[in-house]
Amino acid sequence: MAQNVLMELNGVAKSFRSADGAPRLVLEGVNFSLGEGEIVALLGKSGSGKSTLLRIMAGLIPTDAGQSTYRGRGIHGPASGVAMVFQSFALFPWLTVQQNVELGLEAQGMPAPEREKRADAMLELIGLTGFGGALPRELSGGMRQRVGIARALVTNPDVLLMDEAFSALDVLTGETLRNEILDLWDCNRIPTKGILIVSHNIEEAVMMADRIIILSSGPGRIRSEVKIALPRPRAADSAEVRALIDEVYGLMTMRPVQEARTGAVAAPRPDYRLPETDVSHIEGVLDLLAGAPFNGHADLPQLAEEAELSDEELFPTYEAIGLLGLAQVEKGDITLTPLGRHYVEAEHTLRHQIFGQQLLTHVPLAARIRQRLEQEPTGTLAEEPFIELLEESLEADEAKRALEVAVEWGRYGEVYEYDFHTGRLKLPDRAAE
Ligand SMILES: Nc1ncnc2c1ncn2[C@@H]1O[C@H](COP(=O)(O)OP(=O)(O)OP(=O)(O)O)[C@@H](O)[C@H]1O
Ligand SMILES: [Mg+2]
Repeated sequence: MAQNVLMELNGVAKSFRSADGAPRLVLEGVNFSLGEGEIVALLGKSGSGKSTLLRIMAGLIPTDAGQSTYRGRGIHGPASGVAMVFQSFALFPWLTVQQNVELGLEAQGMPAPEREKRADAMLELIGLTGFGGALPRELSGGMRQRVGIARALVTNPDVLLMDEAFSALDVLTGETLRNEILDLWDCNRIPTKGILIVSHNIEEAVMMADRIIILSSGPGRIRSEVKIALPRPRAADSAEVRALIDEVYGLMTMRPVQEARTGAVAAPRPDYRLPETDVSHIEGVLDLLAGAPFNGHADLPQLAEEAELSDEELFPTYEAIGLLGLAQVEKGDITLTPLGRHYVEAEHTLRHQIFGQQLLTHVPLAARIRQRLEQEPTGTLAEEPFIELLEESLEADEAKRALEVAVEWGRYGEVYEYDFHTGRLKLPDRAAE
């Protein structure tokens, strides 16, 4: 399919300075193009660099290496044909809805009467008639995001970038708004030629996009691509859509084998990063998986429907369960291991024991904490040295979160305790006796 390229990234890399001043690679070797007539969805774990990629394309931040172009020209700052919608709406609270929408036009130097006409028309198109004089705080989240979208669309952008534009909204409002955008797009009521959306929601991506790309983490690279040839509007419960959701789930949970191999060539460093989930989610998913109708084996999308948790919460939970050896996650399916089965059938005390034992075997950070505590005559240590250790390979905030997860899991598995008043770790009483 020959199509004109709107935006193109070639070998794009970006790193940020971490707390200790060392550069940390967030994106590496990213090649991507957005063609005319396409809606592309970008998926990837939290922290994989999706927003960074979008901000590069919007000209808000420069790249460190590689080329980024918009209609063949290098991107060196915000281009007038490219508009962005943010998850946080990013409206000016002291400006009215009308003024917020007119802002982009003002920057283009458009005279006031024309600005007003264009903004009025856009407010009508996006369902905000009568709200022009309101302040953002007087509106609901859904209405505020309409303003964010109107502000982006009023400039008649060639390319629209949306960073989790619907995820701060409740499910129904998000769905309504995204259907309205698709409607405007499919009926050619907006002149926009290409849309790139970042999403955490696999179903949203499958319902909207002509193509889905998946970013791997640490550093972010484009790992897989799925083309979707189904006409829109799509039925969420059709067999085709369900099969695609399945496929994308499979790709998202796949372990990047080659990357792990190449990584092994470099100096091996224990991976102290931990999936950010808590024990209640782990238990919830395991219990659900063990019960009817799954009986130990489930298709991830089906499990997600029953779980009443978002994809954002579920992915780290699957990762944790896999890491602890309680289930196997493969190709969009999750299956309890024999130990996992044993675990869900066990009563309280035994559950804690199994959890603790798996933790010490499979989670290097937990094993390290336990080992250091055992070496201490008092059996207790401040948390700071562990945070420092983690900061050697992680960002300050990631280090803090990794330790929080390790503390929560460790307490549950009764391999160490944590005093929230003093911030000290200690061996459980049983072992210290
Ligand atoms: N300005 C910055 N300075 C330092 N580090 C940054 C900056 N912006 C992003 N990062 C880091 O880069 C990594 C990627 O961030 P980014 O926001 O692009 O991820 P994301 O995929 O959008 O995540 P999420 O799904 O949570 O929105 C993170 O580790 C983040 O902490
Ligand atoms: Mg983001």
